[in-house]
Amino acid sequence: MEKKSEFNGVVLQLLKEIEKENPKFKEFLIKKYKGLPCYPKLEEAVYNYGITHSKIFAVTTSNPGTSLLTEFLYEGKPQSFPLDRYFLNCKGGKAIKSRLITIEKKLPFIIEEYLKKKKKIVIGNLGSGPGRDIIDVLAKYYRNTDKIKAINIDRDKTSLDRGKRLAQIKGVAHLIEFVHANFLRYKPKEKFDIALLIGVLCPLNVPTCIKYLKRIKKLLKRGGCVIVSNTTRRMLEEDPFTCFLMKWGANWELVYKDEKDLKYIFEKAGYKWKEHFYEPYRFHIMGVGCTK
Ligand SMILES: C[S@@+](CC[C@H](N)C(=O)[O-])C[C@H]1O[C@@H](n2cnc3c(N)ncnc32)[C@H](O)[C@@H]1O
Repeated sequence: MEKKSEFNGVVLQLLKEIEKENPKFKEFLIKKYKGLPCYPKLEEAVYNYGITHSKIFAVTTSNPGTSLLTEFLYEGKPQSFPLDRYFLNCKGGKAIKSRLITIEKKLPFIIEEYLKKKKKIVIGNLGSGPGRDIIDVLAKYYRNTDKIKAINIDRDKTSLDRGKRLAQIKGVAHLIEFVHANFLRYKPKEKFDIALLIGVLCPLNVPTCIKYLKRIKKLLKRGGCVIVSNTTRRMLEEDPFTCFLMKWGANWELVYKDEKDLKYIFEKAGYKWKEHFYEPYRFHIMGVGCTK
């Protein structure tokens, strides 16, 4: 009987394409993935090949938490270089887009809950990147309302400038403020009814997540809620090669968390745990907690 490969089809395709460039590169990736010793000269050659050819490898190695990666995956434009195509086609990459779609479906329900109680609400998007989730939801459902104000906060100014352009293109610039700041030091003029913290906690350990959520509590109104996302262990189990690439290339290691971990983080930070939901790959869990 033929031995089943330990690599899935997307990885095998990547390895096949890389082999065409240089068979030693393929050999290196397999050895490194398996934890076998590798020559530094070959490692450097493969690393250099990655950063000089792949847009996404280059931006991610220089800043693993950059929204350039998430935006690249959201846009999903066809790519000519194997490693860029790989990131678009691997489960880990697809799950990021699926997280965006899931949040964009869920958010209007949470907004409606608050609009039942209040005439006007404020939404804070912490570590927003361009803030595509808020922009899409406002453009789809609330373009002509004056009942919602959103604030996208990020310490990366270029991602906010991008968000401003997206908001203009989608006709919702009048509803969104863009703030260039560290959200941990942000002092809001108006506190938030709803806050989003998406794609931010994943590399942070539990005590740091508790500190973040305690700080964020100060930005929320009484009864306000925060929706946070985190990567689950399923990503490591079902897409170990992407996890390996991120760790090797960008030193990007995630602290996988499950429902129990998120509930613990929320409760330790002084929130009331409300609910959780997943995107369809279940590589990302979203937890919702409210201030008491
Ligand atoms: C992976 S991106 C996710 C962007 C967006 N939330 C999304 O879901 O597509 C993480 C973003 O969080 C921002 N970020 C992380 N920590 C931050 C902090 N303390 N203050 C402001 N921005 C922060 C980064 O600059 C980056 O743009």
